[in-house]
Amino acid sequence: MVLEETLLEIENMSKSFGGLQAVSELSFTVSRGEIKAIIGPNGAGKTTVFNLISGLQRPDQGQKRFRGKVFDGLPPHEIAALGIVRTFQIVQIFDNLTVCQNAMVGRHTRSKGEFWRSGVGLGGLRKEEESIHDGALRALEIVGLTSKKDEMAGNLPFGEEKLLEIARAMATEPELLMLDEPAAGLNEKETEDMAGIIKSIQELGVTILLVEHDMSLVMDISDDILVLNYGVKIAEGSPDSVRENPAVIEAYLGEDVDV
Ligand SMILES: Nc1ncnc2c1ncn2[C@@H]1O[C@H](COP(=O)(O)OP(=O)(O)O)[C@@H](O)[C@H]1O
Ligand SMILES: [Mg+2]
Repeated sequence: MVLEETLLEIENMSKSFGGLQAVSELSFTVSRGEIKAIIGPNGAGKTTVFNLISGLQRPDQGQKRFRGKVFDGLPPHEIAALGIVRTFQIVQIFDNLTVCQNAMVGRHTRSKGEFWRSGVGLGGLRKEEESIHDGALRALEIVGLTSKKDEMAGNLPFGEEKLLEIARAMATEPELLMLDEPAAGLNEKETEDMAGIIKSIQELGVTILLVEHDMSLVMDISDDILVLNYGVKIAEGSPDSVRENPAVIEAYLGEDVDV
C-alpha cells in the first residue's frame, strides 16, 4: 500500500566522473510503501544513483533525506543501520558459506551495535545468535530458499544466487530495499517469480526502489517510474504515462527493449 508519507527525498543531486556527468541535478521522492522504479538506457546513471544513496560514492552536490532527516555524508554501514539496504547488479555472495550463513551476514550487520551495548554473557550471546539465525530463516522463506538453507551458496544456480542476495538484504529488516537489476540474467519464468517476490516484499510493508532493465517487469509491478537519460530525469509518473511519453520512447530508440 502506497502511503502519503515521503520516506526518501533526493534533492538536486549531481555526480561527475572526470568530464562525464553521470547524474545531473536529480530530484525525486519515494513514498512509504511504494515500488518506485528507476529506468533508462545503459549508462544512464541508475547504478550511480544507488551508489550515492547508499553512501558508496559521494555526490558532488545535493541533499538526501530519510524519514525527513538529512543523512548526507554517512558511510554505507550507518546508512544500512538507518534501514536503507541494497543489492548489487553483480551478485556478491560468499560461495564458501552456506545459504543460511550468507543470509545471517545481513542480520549480523544489523545487530552488532545492540550486541556490544548489551554486555551479554554467554547465554545472551547464544540468544543473540539464535535470533540472527531465526531472522535469516525468515528472510530465506520470503524468497523461497528455505529448502536450500544448508547448501553451499557457491553451488546455487545463478537465479537462486540473486534471490539469496535479496534474502540477505531482507534479513536486516530494511525500511527501504534498493534492488539493482534483480532480473538481469534470469529467464522468463525466473523473472515472473522475481516479480512475485518483489510484490510480496512490498506487501510486508517494505518500500522498494528498483533499477531494472526488463520493461515488462517494471511496468507490471511499479507504482511509479522515473526515467533517466544521460544522468538527467526525462520523465516521472505512472507506468502508463511513462510508456506513452515521447521523450522516453526517443531515449530508448536503438535499444533492444519494448517500452
Ligand atoms: N566509478 C566510475 N568512474 C568513471 N565513470 C563511471 C563510474 N561509474 C559509472 N561511470 C560512468 O557513469 C555513467 C553512468 O553509469 P551507471 O550509473 O553505471 O549507469 P547505469 O547503471 O544506468 O547503466 C556511465 O557512463 C559510466 O561509464
Ligand atoms: Mg547499472
